[in-house]
Amino acid sequence: MGKEKLAVLTSGGDSPGMNAAIRAVVRTSVAMGIDIYGIDHGYRGIYENEIHRMDRYSVADIIQRGGTILYTDRCDRMMDEDGPAEAAELLNQNGITGLIIIGGDGTFKGGLALKKCGIRIAAVPGTIDNDIACTDRTIGFDTAVNTALDAISRIRDTSSSHNRVNLVQVMGRNCGNLALYAGLAGGAEAICVPEIPYDADEIAHRVIIGKNKGKLHCIIVFAEGAGDMNMLNYELQKKTGIEVRSTVLGYTQRGGSPTASDRILASYMGSMAVRLLAEGDSGKAVCLDGREYTAVPLEEATNMSRILASDYYELARTLSV
Ligand code: F6P
Repeated sequence: MGKEKLAVLTSGGDSPGMNAAIRAVVRTSVAMGIDIYGIDHGYRGIYENEIHRMDRYSVADIIQRGGTILYTDRCDRMMDEDGPAEAAELLNQNGITGLIIIGGDGTFKGGLALKKCGIRIAAVPGTIDNDIACTDRTIGFDTAVNTALDAISRIRDTSSSHNRVNLVQVMGRNCGNLALYAGLAGGAEAICVPEIPYDADEIAHRVIIGKNKGKLHCIIVFAEGAGDMNMLNYELQKKTGIEVRSTVLGYTQRGGSPTASDRILASYMGSMAVRLLAEGDSGKAVCLDGREYTAVPLEEATNMSRILASDYYELARTLSV
């Protein structure tokens, strides 16, 4: 093979730390004498030829910034039957010898489709959902947990003042990790996750017990995939006679400056993705396993589901009463 010419893109929902990962990809490539290109707007940028050369200055002053300087997109064309083959052909025409993809589950599935079309891929997990089961952490999760925690702490103040029940909805799609971590760290009275169906009677009972013990506030963290929060709001008010208020944190969790933990994770993973391709090891996702960084085949990475940490769930229940 001639000179390596790598490209990097971000795809799917953005997450804090994606820029730190892009920086690591670009600077590692430069340090190794590899030509590096950025593709704007995720996979869409391949079809629309938004491919541009990057150098160490293209990624100056971005380690602390949320969002992604390469922009992102959820690309329908990659889902078409001949979409991946067309994208692979365009990458080949541009002389791209390897592609680094940064994103979540959908991004990884796109990467696997391109792999099957002969493209050398390295995948970096970037999503606030932490729903990629082959890695302990995805880039952006820690920041999103802390953003949610900050909101929960503020809501707790007003919850105490008014002696209300406050429902707080967090993102996470079908995965309860974000809710679980924010709820455990925030001392929530209850946590509703998609993995475990909630029982409104049981939650109402816990609310009453808490009130009888003199608790002034009541925070219930509700994962967006756990069901209908408005329905729970209505039921709790009816069953407990206590005023209930709901807050949807929404996209606040997707933005903001990444935490130190996310920046370090992104820096290591971005750099490792380049090194994997340079060493001829392609078609894998960079993962964190305990203290060790590993490379897991994309077939495996796209075929595992995250199991909820039931010990954390039980701990949160024990500590909150
Ligand atoms: O996957 C990240 C995520 O923020 C999920 O938590 C959420 O369900 C989804 O993206 C929202 O997607 P969109 O940006 O397309 O509205």
